[in-house]
Amino acid sequence: MSQYNFQVAAREARIRANTPGSLGAYERSQKSLAGGVSTALRRSAKPYPMFYSHGEGAWITDVDGNKFIDYTLAWGPLILGHAPAAVNEALAAQLTKGHTFGAQHALEYEAAELLCEAIPCADKVAFANSGTEIVQVALRLARAVTGRMLYLKFEGHYHGWDDSVLVSYKPGANDCGSMTPIPVGTGQRPWSGAVVARWNDRASVDAAFAAHPREISAIICEPMLCNSGCLPPADGFLAYLREKATAEGALLIFDEVITGFRLALGGGQAYYGVTPDVATFAKACGGGLPVSVLAGRDEYMSWIAEGRMVHAGTLNGNPLGLAATVATLQTLTPAVYEQLDRLGRQLRSGLEEALRAKGISMVTTGEGAVFQVHFQPEIPHEYRDTLATDKALYADFLMAMLDAGVLALPDGRWYLSAAHGAEVVEETLRRVRGL
Ligand SMILES: Cc1ncc(COP(=O)(O)O)c(C=O)c1O
Repeated sequence: MSQYNFQVAAREARIRANTPGSLGAYERSQKSLAGGVSTALRRSAKPYPMFYSHGEGAWITDVDGNKFIDYTLAWGPLILGHAPAAVNEALAAQLTKGHTFGAQHALEYEAAELLCEAIPCADKVAFANSGTEIVQVALRLARAVTGRMLYLKFEGHYHGWDDSVLVSYKPGANDCGSMTPIPVGTGQRPWSGAVVARWNDRASVDAAFAAHPREISAIICEPMLCNSGCLPPADGFLAYLREKATAEGALLIFDEVITGFRLALGGGQAYYGVTPDVATFAKACGGGLPVSVLAGRDEYMSWIAEGRMVHAGTLNGNPLGLAATVATLQTLTPAVYEQLDRLGRQLRSGLEEALRAKGISMVTTGEGAVFQVHFQPEIPHEYRDTLATDKALYADFLMAMLDAGVLALPDGRWYLSAAHGAEVVEETLRRVRGL
């Protein structure tokens, strides 16, 4: 592994000197807000969590006035970039009419119609507010339909923070390959209902069904494993899952919380040409507002339509969120996807060239507007392969980029938005070459 020296000590000192406002805000925030952040992962930011004042397009500005090219994009939602005009206008138009009704309004069917048109598995949709919630709706639906209490998930896949799914998310090397779910944190109930298989490994799926005959209600997966390395499905793997689920009387659930509206308007299912029974969407579908969607075939969605299964939520389908959803969906034209794909390729190949020129052994994986930079020589195909990445060197790279005014996520994932033009990408590469 390369020992390229990103000069982090000097860079960290400069970052600290340039961000006194963020440090002061972080110290103040910790006195009243648990941990000083609103979701646990943000606490790990180095040298400390930054505070931002505004974002515009591909750029975000911190409270000290430093401007950064943003590839974190709020961990995924900002498919159109920060504060896009289309979403701003839709929100402004709705603001004076009311924020939430707890009752029906036209934006519900307008958003639902657009979603049903775009998503292959969507005869009907249902709304909630977060990815975690909507995954629970999908899994409950699978249990209701099949009368079975277990479900199958894959190692490394993330489906939200509920006890039932926060298992075998990032197992250590010694725990890899265990079919027994491993809880991530304290306080989680020991029984999750999960059976764990390995991504892109048919034998492990066959073994899971063989070990639990007629007990598994659903197979759930990210159609591309975005949360652990942006690992695409192996050739034929999604089609195999489709057949296996049908043969076993289980539902196939695609968790499209990231892939939805990123790989294509119809999500990973449209991109890969395999249609699940139901699918979950969040992040990009609200263009920055909290909206999540369950999409599915009539035979399954009828359980919700007829009230045979409870789906509830005070703020579900609120007009502000759905105004943003309609505006986002209408802006995501085929030309936007062509651009995202082109820019994704430009950025990935530019990063490969720039980093390899420094002697760093690295590869990238992913598709279009979401990809992963791995500091390792071999292309990973399943979760355990990603453990080879040089995390310490990547952390140094992130610190160097922060100093150079480029933000990316700590786990190696990069998101692109429709606001990242070719010039922004070229400027990014210029900065990376100069590190
Ligand atoms: C694939 C996937 N499913 C579910 C979730 C949970 O979504 P949320 O954070 O909105 O609860 C996430 C969040 O990152 C996700 O990536």
